[in-house]
Amino acid sequence: MKYNKSFAALAVAALVQGSLAQTWCGKNYMANQSVVPPGGQFVLPAQSVDPLLSFRCAPVFRPYLQEDAKSAAFIVDTSIVYDWIAGAEPISLPSTSGSSSNSAGLGTVSVTINVGSVKTTANVPLNATNFQIPVDISKLQARKAAYNVSCSATYTAPSSSKSQKFKTGASLLYLPDTNSSVTKTDLRTGALWVRPADGKGGAFAPFLPQGFYINFDEYLVENLTMIDQLKADGFNTLHPIPPYDNLTIFEEVINKTISAGMYIVYDMRSNYQNLTLVAQQVKTYASIPNLLNWETAHEPDGNSDPLGAAQLTYDLIYTLDGYHPVSIVLNCQDYNFSPYVNGADIVLHDAYPIGINATFSPVWHTACTPDFGHCGCDNCKGTLYDVKARVQTFKDRLNILGFDRTKSVWTTPQAFGSGAYWNTTPTGQQWAALGFTSFNHGALGSKSFQYPTTTGNVTTIEGTATNLTVIIKDIIQPFIVDPNATFATYDHLGVDAGLWHNGTAYLLIVANLVNAQVYVPWKDVGLGSITNTTTQVERILSVSQNTNATGLNFLPNGIGIYIATPP
Ligand SMILES: *[C@@H]1O[C@H](CO)[C@@H](O)[C@H](O)[C@H]1NC(C)=O
Ligand SMILES: *[C@@H]1O[C@H](CO)[C@@H](O)[C@H](O)[C@H]1NC(C)=O
Ligand SMILES: *[C@@H]1O[C@H](CO)[C@@H](O)[C@H](O)[C@H]1NC(C)=O
Ligand SMILES: *[C@@H]1O[C@H](CO)[C@@H](O)[C@H](O)[C@H]1NC(C)=O
Ligand SMILES: *[C@@H]1O[C@H](CO)[C@@H](O)[C@H](O)[C@H]1NC(C)=O
Ligand SMILES: *[C@@H]1O[C@H](CO)[C@@H](O)[C@H](O)[C@H]1NC(C)=O
Ligand SMILES: *[C@@H]1O[C@H](CO)[C@@H](O)[C@H](O)[C@H]1NC(C)=O
Ligand SMILES: *[C@@H]1O[C@H](CO)[C@@H](O)[C@H](O)[C@H]1NC(C)=O
Ligand SMILES: *[C@@H]1O[C@H](CO)[C@@H](O)[C@H](O)[C@H]1NC(C)=O
Ligand SMILES: *[C@@H]1O[C@H](CO)[C@@H](O)[C@H](O)[C@H]1NC(C)=O
Ligand SMILES: *[C@@H]1O[C@H](CO)[C@@H](O)[C@H](O)[C@H]1NC(C)=O
Ligand SMILES: *[C@@H]1O[C@H](CO)[C@@H](O)[C@H](O)[C@H]1NC(C)=O
Repeated sequence: MKYNKSFAALAVAALVQGSLAQTWCGKNYMANQSVVPPGGQFVLPAQSVDPLLSFRCAPVFRPYLQEDAKSAAFIVDTSIVYDWIAGAEPISLPSTSGSSSNSAGLGTVSVTINVGSVKTTANVPLNATNFQIPVDISKLQARKAAYNVSCSATYTAPSSSKSQKFKTGASLLYLPDTNSSVTKTDLRTGALWVRPADGKGGAFAPFLPQGFYINFDEYLVENLTMIDQLKADGFNTLHPIPPYDNLTIFEEVINKTISAGMYIVYDMRSNYQNLTLVAQQVKTYASIPNLLNWETAHEPDGNSDPLGAAQLTYDLIYTLDGYHPVSIVLNCQDYNFSPYVNGADIVLHDAYPIGINATFSPVWHTACTPDFGHCGCDNCKGTLYDVKARVQTFKDRLNILGFDRTKSVWTTPQAFGSGAYWNTTPTGQQWAALGFTSFNHGALGSKSFQYPTTTGNVTTIEGTATNLTVIIKDIIQPFIVDPNATFATYDHLGVDAGLWHNGTAYLLIVANLVNAQVYVPWKDVGLGSITNTTTQVERILSVSQNTNATGLNFLPNGIGIYIATPP
């Protein structure tokens, strides 16, 4: 196989795992230290009384391959917003449009997409999202360097003669065809598209990564059977935690995941700032058949890594590869989010709230406040709610920064506990709820931390996973990866709900994030059209939760998945 020859040549220095940084999330945390505000906070946009146009344009896929050139397309968004998010510009609307809640009276925008010698113009309704414009890019040369795309829009309000002009940019990655692994991102949904992991070829298809972090030196080196077990549990992605010291065994891990049809995340956390080593690793592993993506900075915000480090690595990886996206993991709730995410296509959170003491650190014996302390989950309350808030906050910030199409958020469900900041491991049901609320707030991939975890009956994490991974793949994934599906999220008395609609059916995912019994009428989670629960609602899964004719009844921490097909 192509990748074998360079294995032996690569000797990645195993950096000694550094001791904990002087600060964590910019905060002092030791008893003898003073309180110093960490800074680095995300700045929310100012509001606007007058309407603004948030004009966005992006290719449907990143990357496109030569074989896709004739069927390529761009997505255009012409949202009217009232926050000064990145790129928003004032637009004057017809005076009558404010009265109705639909956009019909707003008219259209003439959009021109210009890349190299290719120029395409189309009319796009104003206040539209996800509007697709076919753009044949076969006249362009496939190459490593991304093309700069300029997108312009001209709006003439109905019954007005004055035209208003808007501009935005995009990046088009158009690469040569290859038989090696390619992970495309569908920028309509943020979902990844891959060929089968066994490397034998096949069509690209969307999928939802479900995986586990697993320590290479501690577990995999000793016991490759764990890969078979994770496969049997229904996981499709393996994330070995470096260092990968024994390269023979690392190659066995790759071989075994290929045979199992599982994808692998290559993690450069221990040396991502050494660009020489990054280049060596990317050259060595870019062609393995089941490489899903590169992970670079791990908790750069916690450790206060240089603000530009993740981006330098990102840029280098794109000059060498481009066929696989780059992920980073941010640990802090609010510390230098903006600079770090410049170095990523995928932003993972790793908030682990279960079993912490959110106000007093058992490790450092100090209080935890927004300005001080380290309690294991930054600015958390110590409940399931923390993960909902973290995923949604990351999504919102990416939108504000203008990255809602180009960067996505993944989740890291807590699958450990006992020790250090954590006095307990989540139950299987809590672990499931962490995943559910993440999907409800836009997460497009899930890698639990870490394997091995609790195992046995359905009250444990692994005991829950065996059944849940299949449901996620068969029931949830088709909605989440469907570019035509619409999506809404609801909070009813602490019950978190996500509702997808694919044109004919609804998918409802619910998780009660509060320690209380809650009744949720169907209409309060977007299903007012349900008239006969017996015939129109299919229960896929429910724990501590049931339905009656008018709604859903939750016990504390109840969870559920339903398909609803109203008349
Ligand atoms: C734009 O679309 C949104 C979502 O459909 C809608 O809520 C809003 O009222 C529309 N804005 C205008 C000005 O029509
Ligand atoms: C290896 O891992 C498998 C799957 O987790 C487990 O069943 C087995 O007990 C492990 N073997 C050893 C020697 O730890
Ligand atoms: C890697 O592991 C194999 C199998 O356990 C062992 O034979 C070999 O000596 C190890 N190599 C190194 C460099 O530790
Ligand atoms: C991995 O698979 C390749 C191709 O089948 C084989 O040549 C190589 O020896 C395998 N490596 C290990 C360490 O088993
Ligand atoms: C980066 O890695 C290379 C290759 O191992 C090594 O020679 C070099 O000293 C490292 N650079 C730094 C700054 O650590
Ligand atoms: C957190 O720790 C402090 C100090 O030990 C204790 O008083 C408090 O009850 C703990 N809080 C929780 C929620 O366990
Ligand atoms: C399930 O497993 C847990 C952990 O091993 C155990 O405490 C519990 O009693 C088991 N429950 C049932 C119903 O078997
Ligand atoms: C869960 O999975 C196990 C093993 O695959 C299977 O035997 C069992 O019927 C499943 N339980 C449910 C409730 O689907
Ligand atoms: C989305 O809807 C359009 C228009 O109805 C249809 O042509 C297209 O095939 C649909 N796409 C998918 C992925 O279902
Ligand atoms: C919507 O989802 C349902 C349930 O999964 C499926 O049967 C149906 O074909 C889907 N409809 C469309 C238009 O994709
Ligand atoms: C729901 O539909 C079924 C089958 O048509 C019917 O037997 C049942 O009475 C209906 N229930 C209600 C509450 O209308
Ligand atoms: C469903 O349960 C809720 C909460 O117990 C109750 O208020 C409601 O009346 C029930 N609906 C029906 C039709 O029984």
